[in-house]
Amino acid sequence: MTATSDMGTPDLGVQPTPLALLLLGQRSDSDSERGTACPGELPAASDPTLVARARTAKDALGDKVFVLGHHYQRDEVIQFADVTGDSFKLAREAAARPEASYVVFCGVHFMAESADILTGNHQQVVLPDLAAGCSMADMATAEQVAEAWDVLTDAGIAGGRGSGASGNRGGRGSGASGNPVTVPVSYMNSSAAIKAFTGRHGGTICTSSNAEVAMRWALDQGDAGGKGEKVLFLPDQHLGRNTAVLQLGLSLDDCVVYDPRRPNGGLTVDQLRAATVILWKGHCSVHGRFTAQTVTEVRERVPGVTVLVHPECKHEVVTAADLVGSTEFIIKTIEAAPSGSAWAIGTELNLVSRLAKAHPDKTIVFLDKTVCFCSTMNRIDLPHLVWALESLVDGRVVNRIDVDNDTAHYAKVALDQMLALPGI
Ligand code: 13P
Ligand code: SF4
Repeated sequence: MTATSDMGTPDLGVQPTPLALLLLGQRSDSDSERGTACPGELPAASDPTLVARARTAKDALGDKVFVLGHHYQRDEVIQFADVTGDSFKLAREAAARPEASYVVFCGVHFMAESADILTGNHQQVVLPDLAAGCSMADMATAEQVAEAWDVLTDAGIAGGRGSGASGNRGGRGSGASGNPVTVPVSYMNSSAAIKAFTGRHGGTICTSSNAEVAMRWALDQGDAGGKGEKVLFLPDQHLGRNTAVLQLGLSLDDCVVYDPRRPNGGLTVDQLRAATVILWKGHCSVHGRFTAQTVTEVRERVPGVTVLVHPECKHEVVTAADLVGSTEFIIKTIEAAPSGSAWAIGTELNLVSRLAKAHPDKTIVFLDKTVCFCSTMNRIDLPHLVWALESLVDGRVVNRIDVDNDTAHYAKVALDQMLALPGI
């Protein structure tokens, strides 16, 4: 059974880190989703009426507002979500609510962008704090990816920048029949610009729950009769590698890492031509903290423990763990686990804490010994949510996420391709 602290919250065996979380939201930074100042007067975090204010504002808005909450959000916020889910489920839910004038996204910037792309023109998407970005998404900029595509094109394994004409899926492949082609597969955790690049070049978006089917689909495209096709996987090298090796049966040598900070990605033409999967050098700073050592330690600490991790973890962690799967997979696995079983979970701490509270008959510990919240997910707190909802009641749409039409068009091509993948 999970131990409980004096505060009534489960003791997950973690220690607070000595350093404060990054100071986000303190300044404007147009080059990054992080560090963006939030306009407006926020209520004080100590205001005891915040919960009541959020409820009153939400009730006043009624069916006009739909609140989506990612599983990594704080408890104080998730209680106001109409639907909770991983990024895939939330993208689907956003697309299925045409009656809501406002979609308030309690998650991070790339998720709100996807919601804006998938909702109608009559709907407006609000992100309660614009500083809720994603460090992984920031690791692949549109300029870097365009440059990388040029490198692949010069190596004869990609087909140039694409025409950009509406509905044209050109740009994929080499153009010479029988030559290998490269198909971009971009993780949902990427900017709208990267999703649009993917759509322009005949690729697909994926999430952690459908990366296998997306990569199989991509390797089956093109004009080489199923042989020699390649994937450019953006921006999470770990999800790409874990999917290629553990789910598709490729070898580690079939994968190369493209580093956008090095000339030609740090790769030779021969390396690019020999690879099946070209992994972008990006990672999640939260899941990237876990190591094979943390898995060994938890096995010593918790007798009979089953180690369950997210595929954004490093390959060494995933191979040392017992089970690997998306956020929804982790939740379903714990729900189905027998009473008395013991689990160490390697994903974001808000979710692990909530699972421990919801399943007091099971021992649930956090995989790391230090606190590991996603600092940008945690930007969405009750003061920001109250401010966003009360502003809507007053007729002001604050922190609107509005993707431009051209970007939205091509990003939607890639998102729709994901939603059309077999078995999804
Ligand atoms: P999923 O929601 O697809 O599991 O992704 C995890 C994540 O890191 C979200 O930012
Ligand atoms: Fe980005 Fe990782 Fe945070 Fe998800 S958990 S928003 S991938 S930094």
